[in-house]
Amino acid sequence: MNFLDIDDLTKAELDAVLERASDLKARRAEGKDHLLLEGKSLAMIFEKPSTRTRVSFETGMTQLGGHALFLGPDDIHLGHGEPVKDTARALSRYVDGIMARVFDHADVEELAEYATVPVVNGLTDDAHPCQTLADLLTIRERFGGFDCAVTWVGDGNNVCQSFILGAAMTNLDVTVATPAGYEPDDDILDRAAALGEAPEVTNDPAAAVDGADVVYTDVWVSMGQEAERHQKLSAFDGFQVNQDLLSDQLVMHCLPAHRGEEITDDVLESDQAIVWDQAENRLHAQKGLLAELL
Ligand code: CP
Ligand code: NVA
Repeated sequence: MNFLDIDDLTKAELDAVLERASDLKARRAEGKDHLLLEGKSLAMIFEKPSTRTRVSFETGMTQLGGHALFLGPDDIHLGHGEPVKDTARALSRYVDGIMARVFDHADVEELAEYATVPVVNGLTDDAHPCQTLADLLTIRERFGGFDCAVTWVGDGNNVCQSFILGAAMTNLDVTVATPAGYEPDDDILDRAAALGEAPEVTNDPAAAVDGADVVYTDVWVSMGQEAERHQKLSAFDGFQVNQDLLSDQLVMHCLPAHRGEEITDDVLESDQAIVWDQAENRLHAQKGLLAELL
């Protein structure tokens, strides 16, 4: 089984991963061992930089008794010295799972097609399901479930798209506010509708955050979009999460944050921001996922 996006899990499997994550989080807090993956190895392919994904997967494997290998863009032949499908087949002869952060979503699909071990998406240009697991765990801890309203303000790309699907699977009430032209893909909205409910999508951030319990944002210039920086900064004018936009909502951000662009420093440093809980929960959520998958 692969985890290329959050809806590769059934609703029951998603619930099981979140339950397992909470259990492993509690075990770690109580100092109880949880060596569920002794002798197992995870290959971690990174075409893009990472702080949270890299460190949470690597330490997560260690805490579970297993081992992770960091394979950066200059370490392996993926995509340049050999085709993706060859990397998938060779790695499958050594390791028990492959986590990959790549640009093109088609590359994780090709890895999954040719690998004989589970493939986990650690971020593509289209999806970030590991982030969604941590986000759902964070919301569940804060609200005791999913009976709350979250407004996304910003780019409707990878993090937003996986979050929309996760929200549909858990009956979270989501509204999405993006500049025109930066809405989530129609395919995502169709999949969300099939899973539960598609979010309302608007181009009006002030109206969208009114009445929300949580406001969630992400960078305006994603990794790989540096050439579009000027155009994107101008398109996203008016979509900054700042004190003028907010009242008493909690604030989520997948991080890294670009202070002064999509979010202000004072909001990020305020008690409304729950971003460090989100970041911590990457560890627990992915341990839950790895324990279920491997
Ligand atoms: N949120 C997230 O994936 O962070 P990194 O880019 O640091 O891994
Ligand atoms: N949208 C961001 C998310 C980083 C975790 C990016 O793709 O760079």
